[in-house]
Amino acid sequence: MFSFEELLKNRSAEHLKLHNHINPQFAKVLHTIGFDKNYTKAKDVSLFDNEGNEYLDFLSGYGVYAMGRNHPKMKQALHELIDLDLANMVQMEAPALSGLLAEKLLGLTGHGVRDTVYFTNSGTESVETALKFARAATGRDKTIHLDHAFHGLSTGSLSVNGNTEFREGFGTLLPSDKVTQNDLNALEDLLKTKEYAAFLFEPVQGKGVYVPEQNYLRQAIDLCHRYGTLAIADEVQAGLGRTGKWVACEHFAAQPDIICFSKALSGGMVPVGAVVYKSEIYNKVFSRMDRCVVHSSTFGQNNLAMGCGLAALQILQEEQLLENAKTKGEMLLQKLNELKKQHDWIKEVRGKGLMIGIEFGRPQGLKKKLAWDMVHKMDKGLFGEIIVMPLLAKHRILTQVSGHHQDIVKLIPPLTLTNEHVERFVSALDEVLTGCEKVGGPIFTISKNLAKHVVSRKNKKATAAG
Ligand SMILES: Cc1ncc(COP(=O)(O)O)c(C=O)c1O
Repeated sequence: MFSFEELLKNRSAEHLKLHNHINPQFAKVLHTIGFDKNYTKAKDVSLFDNEGNEYLDFLSGYGVYAMGRNHPKMKQALHELIDLDLANMVQMEAPALSGLLAEKLLGLTGHGVRDTVYFTNSGTESVETALKFARAATGRDKTIHLDHAFHGLSTGSLSVNGNTEFREGFGTLLPSDKVTQNDLNALEDLLKTKEYAAFLFEPVQGKGVYVPEQNYLRQAIDLCHRYGTLAIADEVQAGLGRTGKWVACEHFAAQPDIICFSKALSGGMVPVGAVVYKSEIYNKVFSRMDRCVVHSSTFGQNNLAMGCGLAALQILQEEQLLENAKTKGEMLLQKLNELKKQHDWIKEVRGKGLMIGIEFGRPQGLKKKLAWDMVHKMDKGLFGEIIVMPLLAKHRILTQVSGHHQDIVKLIPPLTLTNEHVERFVSALDEVLTGCEKVGGPIFTISKNLAKHVVSRKNKKATAAG
C-alpha cells in the first residue's frame, strides 16, 4: 500500500536538494534569505516546521487559504466527494456539481449584471479566457492594462503584465498598451481609437497594493462602454472576500462586464478558477451549436474542484469571514498607522480588508538616511528583504516583498485572523524597525550577508554583458 506518511518521513529532509529537479535558483534564493524551512504541518493561520516550531502565515499560499489551512469542513467535503465514487469528467455530459457552483457563484458575484460562468483551473487561465472572450465579443485584438498590473504568467496574461521584469526575455507578446492607474485622460485617448477589445484591471493591485481613487474604476468602465470596449476585473486575488466583499469592485460601485476569480475558490485544496460574465458575451463566443466547445479545458469542471468551490463559498459565508476580513483589516491598518508615527521608515500603509501594503521610505536623521541609501545602492529591492527576513527568522511570521524593486511588504493572511494575530504581527514589526536603527541590527547584518550574493550576481551580469 502506498503511504505518503512513510514517503515524507523518509524523504522530506531532502526537500531542498530535490528541488534541483525543479528550480534550483529558487531553492538557492530560499536558502540565502533563510526561507528554506521544512514545513511539515499546517492549521488555520499556523505553519509548523519539522522541529515543531509554529509560524504565522501572512502569505496564505498567495491568497488561496482565505478560510485558513486544512479547514476541517474542506477536508470533510473532499473526503465525502471521493468516497461517493461519482462519475467524474465524463465530458459528454452536463454535471450537476458545476451547475450548482455556477448558480452559487452568480448569486454572490453576478449582481444581476453577469449571468454566465466559465470554469478554469487557475488564475492565469481565467485571465486568458477573459481576454479571448473579449476579442471574440468585440472583434478587436488590442487590450489596455495598468502599470504594476499582475495577471499571471502564461503568454496572454504576460502580455497585460505591467512589470518589465516579468516580460523580459519572452519575445513579442499580444498587443496591449499600458496606462497609469487613475489617469482617465490617458485611458480615453486610447479608447477613442476604438481598437481595444478590453481594459483589464485589478480592483486592488497585488504588486504594491495600489488602491485606485474612489471614482476611477466606475468612470473608467463608463468610458470603456462609450467606445465599445469591455471592462475585465481581475479579482483572482482581491475577490471572494479578501477585501471584505465578494467582489472587490463593489468598494468602488464599479460593474465590469467580466470578472476573473480563482485562489480562494479552491479552499486551498484543488485548483479552480471561474470567469463570471454577461450572456451577450457568451452569445458571441459560443455562437452556434457547432461552436459549443470552441473554448474548453479537460479538467475545467472536475467534481473535486467544483466541490471545493461549493464548500469554500459556504465556509466563507457560515463563518462570516468577509466581515472578519473587514474588521481585522481595519484594525491592522489602524495599528500600523500608529506604528508609522513611531517609525519614519514607514512611508504609507494602505489596503482594503486583509490585503495590505506597508510601503517604506527614506527616513529622517542622518544615520538612518545613510543606512537607507547604502541598502538602496546595493539593491533596489533589498529593504523589503531586510524586513521580511527577521520577521521570519526571529518572530516566525511569513510575509513577502510585494514586487521587484519595491520597498513594500504585503500582508495577505487568512481571513480567519484574530486580534491576537494582529497584535503579534504589529509588535514583531515594531521590534524589527527598532532594530533597524541599531548598529548590528538587521540592516547591517543582512546587508553584509546579502552583499556577497548581490556583488557576485552583478559581476556575473557584467561578465555576461561583456
Ligand atoms: C490578480 C492576479 N491575477 C492572476 C494571477 C495568476 O494566478 P495563477 O497563479 O493561479 O495563475 C494572480 C496570482 O497571483 C493574481 O494575483
